[in-house]
Amino acid sequence: MLRAIVLVSVVVLHLAAGWPTGAPSKACEAMLPKHGSNRPQPAHSSPYSFVQSTDSYRPGDQVIVYVQAPTGTPFKGMMVQAYDPRSNNTIGEFLEGVGLKKIPECASMSHSDNRDKKSATLVWVAPQDSGNVRFRGTIVQQFNTFYHGLSATVQKV
Ligand SMILES: *[C@@H]1O[C@H](CO)[C@@H](O)[C@H](O)[C@H]1NC(C)=O
Repeated sequence: MLRAIVLVSVVVLHLAAGWPTGAPSKACEAMLPKHGSNRPQPAHSSPYSFVQSTDSYRPGDQVIVYVQAPTGTPFKGMMVQAYDPRSNNTIGEFLEGVGLKKIPECASMSHSDNRDKKSATLVWVAPQDSGNVRFRGTIVQQFNTFYHGLSATVQKV
């Protein structure tokens, strides 16, 4: 059972006040959308699966990050950030993808539109060294419902 409730901070936006076309670089730090007075839902209650293919890398490796809606509840947006678990610094970069928007300032990826989605697959490319990488995220279900402080779980082989 891969009911991976992850701890990634995927920041999703919304129609009026949010990020209909993806998170801006000023969201790098907090990974939170400005959705009026709405507060994030706790990460443990997220209905979304947030999984990374591995947590260690060598130069140029690709690590895949999957965001999925196993219960069928779609999401509108997200923000996923890669970081070194020891230093907490953001590392590496994501590859461009359909429906995705890079935030190169902080090794992050967001959505490029706010249509309902059932999944997103992100490809992260390692820097020129070896180490460990983790992903955190925010997932926006809809304007007043978003999950913050999510951490990706590592896929079991
Ligand atoms: C790691 O960095 C993020 C983003 O800047 C920050 O929100 C978080 O508090 C930091 N965590 C630690 C343990 O310093």
